[in-house]
Amino acid sequence: MKALVLAGGSGTRLRPITHTSAKQLVPVANKPVLFYGLEAIRDAGILDVGIIVGETAAEIENAVGDGSAFGIRVTYIQQEAPLGLAHAVLIARDFLADEPFVMYLGDNLIIGGVASFVEEFRRTTPDALILLTKVDNPSAFGVAELGAEGRIIRLVEKPQDPPSDLALVGVYMFGTAVHEAVRAIKPSARGELEITEAIQWLVDGGHEVASHLVEGYWKDTGRLADMLETNRHLLESIEPAIHGSVDADSSIVGRVVIEEGASLVRSTVRGPAIIGRGTTLVDTYVGPFTSIFHSCAIERTEIEYSIVLERATIRGIGRIEDSLIGRDVEVVPSAALPKAHRLMLGDHSRVSVATTSGH
Ligand code: TTP
Repeated sequence: MKALVLAGGSGTRLRPITHTSAKQLVPVANKPVLFYGLEAIRDAGILDVGIIVGETAAEIENAVGDGSAFGIRVTYIQQEAPLGLAHAVLIARDFLADEPFVMYLGDNLIIGGVASFVEEFRRTTPDALILLTKVDNPSAFGVAELGAEGRIIRLVEKPQDPPSDLALVGVYMFGTAVHEAVRAIKPSARGELEITEAIQWLVDGGHEVASHLVEGYWKDTGRLADMLETNRHLLESIEPAIHGSVDADSSIVGRVVIEEGASLVRSTVRGPAIIGRGTTLVDTYVGPFTSIFHSCAIERTEIEYSIVLERATIRGIGRIEDSLIGRDVEVVPSAALPKAHRLMLGDHSRVSVATTSGH
């Protein structure tokens, strides 16, 4: 069995981060989201992994290499444009050959891995096995209508009137029939070859499409709120460890990791939180559910429920919450007059400034 991991795409929902880097490499609990997926695939006993890459190919290849660091063998497959999840299957035809495979969306995270689903697929050998999870807002997802024994009757993308509250999780298992399906379907209104349509084609053609309900935690990290929520969830179970330096005027409360070379000066970290290697905190408070990545400098700041990427500088600007701060970003006060916010923001940046008037 092989795996096909999708790490291309356009990532419009995570702009401006995705203008310059791959969303699959945004660290959650200080590890790129894609790495959790690669580890889950390896833990399911699958070693041959194809990774679909797009504009951010160089960055993904630089981070994952030949896969040996994960104990897998990686083949990169370049997709000329994000033409859809089923298009990714279409262009991976040679790599996949005639083996069954698991398709894994590189920005999705399933806690507890996929080994049990892969085992079920191997044992029952349907033409497709899709994973479903109960959601509160099915209209935001691909939704399944089920028949007897979990057989799929119908799949609908973002339905106004959902037939169930069962959304498709970003992990699918396929036999060889899917190759015919992805060749048969036409691009959707948004110009993509949709995997839901390929699966529907299998159902309509009398192929066996089974489903499995995922009880554990699953998240698509494609939006900021979901990225922060996934970070929260992972931090809740990190193993506390203090490798960096903590001065006598600093304090650490609860589940906290301080990586090597990080240093705390007159600062408080209240977990769950992780402070990356080489990061310095001075006169700073880091609150629960915060991940600060490598080589950041944070001074006279309070920050909570946030993710900060490498080499960011944050100094003396009050309290930050619910934020994703990109690489090499500077957030600093200005003494210059006239007193004003001075911003240089990339396209699609979002800034919410807490004003004194409250408006
Ligand atoms: P999505 O998050 O559905 O799509 P996207 O990356 O284009 O993002 P947005 O909706 O914010 O614009 O994609 C799921 C995963 O599949 C993600 O890791 C990107 C990847 N992908 C590809 O590799 N090729 C594609 O053609 C598409 C559509 C997605």
